[in-house]
Amino acid sequence: MSAARHLAVVVLAAGKGTRMKSDLPKVLHPILGRTVLGWVLAAVEPLAAERVIVVTGHGSELVEASLPDGVVTARQVEQRGSGDAVAAALPALEGFSGDVLVVNGDGALFTTATMRAVVDGHQSRGSVATALAIPGDVALPYGRVLRGAEDRIERIVEAADATPEQLAINELNAGVYAFDADVLRGAVPRLSDDNANGELYITDLLGIADSDGGRTLGVVAGGEEELLGINTRLDVAVVEDLLRTRILEQLMLSGVAISMPETVLVEPTVRVAPDAHLLPGTILRGSTRIAAGAIIGPASELVDTTVEAGATVERSVVREARIGTNALVGPFAFLRPNTQLHEDAKAGAFVELKNTVVGRNSKVPHLSYIGDTTIGTDTNIGAGNITANYRPELGRGKQRTTIGSKVRTGSNTVLVAPVTLGNGAWTGAGSVVVKDVPAGALAIARAHQKNIEGYAERTMEGASS
Ligand code: UD1
Ligand code: CA
Repeated sequence: MSAARHLAVVVLAAGKGTRMKSDLPKVLHPILGRTVLGWVLAAVEPLAAERVIVVTGHGSELVEASLPDGVVTARQVEQRGSGDAVAAALPALEGFSGDVLVVNGDGALFTTATMRAVVDGHQSRGSVATALAIPGDVALPYGRVLRGAEDRIERIVEAADATPEQLAINELNAGVYAFDADVLRGAVPRLSDDNANGELYITDLLGIADSDGGRTLGVVAGGEEELLGINTRLDVAVVEDLLRTRILEQLMLSGVAISMPETVLVEPTVRVAPDAHLLPGTILRGSTRIAAGAIIGPASELVDTTVEAGATVERSVVREARIGTNALVGPFAFLRPNTQLHEDAKAGAFVELKNTVVGRNSKVPHLSYIGDTTIGTDTNIGAGNITANYRPELGRGKQRTTIGSKVRTGSNTVLVAPVTLGNGAWTGAGSVVVKDVPAGALAIARAHQKNIEGYAERTMEGASS
């Protein structure tokens, strides 16, 4: 039993990422709504380390701005290798004694379980320098783990510096390490750049600790996919697909039905309840919440949206909206921010809603734009209705429309805001409503129809004379 030791985490994120061929720092490339670095931080977060230090360098201002509160940063001025990056973190570790978990900032596939296994192995075996070793394909350009007696590591050799015999070793360095803080401080200044890349290698710290006679350890944990660092955009696509699959597998095992999962994308921040059903081509992002029995898709994208039990969203795009119990959306609806459909409400085909509340059992079934509007209960909006909410002559903001309960608007009604329709009001088809309509009244606001008798006959006579 090891006494509870203090833990700090250092994430190396100063590298330029030249092979990405991008102006954006490598660790800031987005994957499923998080940055690469965000994935690494999410994996180590449950370890509840006393200090989390991110080493920045290339694009440091942008990287620092992306970090959550509570993360400390250290700057590596010149990118002289991963060993030099650890050196840059030492000032932020001043006064710290205990263990330091050091993690490559480009390992988006690292899992919390694997990080735990490294720390637990390191602490339970009394190691002073530990590395995560994963058996993998010898064609991969990763560091080779040279084993010592028992499960020790004698040293790690980078692929670029390895002999053919060393290159045949299939235990690969995954870029996760644990060090005793004092051992780390003692070994870092002794790193040399006498190697194929002329860089200071963090990996050489294992060899230094071992030759000093300290207890080193190679922990075998995790899956082969955790070896995948991100170095090119090809890696981004491969890693994104693996993370996407991981999320969907967890959802399915928790009781969510997913049809054709290879076409479905759910970001890690989304919550989906058991017995919800995601159909092909569904994309769920941000803080989206889906309740039991809801059916989403096919071909729908929901961002920061809450869907209550039993609601249906078919072939639609929805942003920052709330869709109530058993409500119906689509096919082909566009719901924009701050839209709320209450229970049993409907936003049907080719309907756009923005900043609008649709009350219980009210329907906007076809071809309408309704914005900045409150609709009561049991109201039906006719086909092709428009709220004319932009009135620059009235000032900068959009004007509101208020529609009561049990209202019936005729097809092609234009509601020129600000305007109010009382409870039970009606409008005639084709009306342009510019004045409030009292409760129970019918507003007809269109040109009267005039029939000109015999018109066709007279016109044809004129044409032939
Ligand atoms: C590194 C390991 C290699 C391992 C592989 C796993 C070294 C020397 N080699 O190789 O054994 O198999 O990861 O993915 O570490 N960094 C800095 N400052 C620098 C250079 C790098 O902060 O000056 C950071 C990078 O942002 C990255 C990490 O250190 O997060 C590793 O650097 P990278 O260049 O990606 O090393 P690899 O060649 O992938
Ligand atoms: Ca890498």
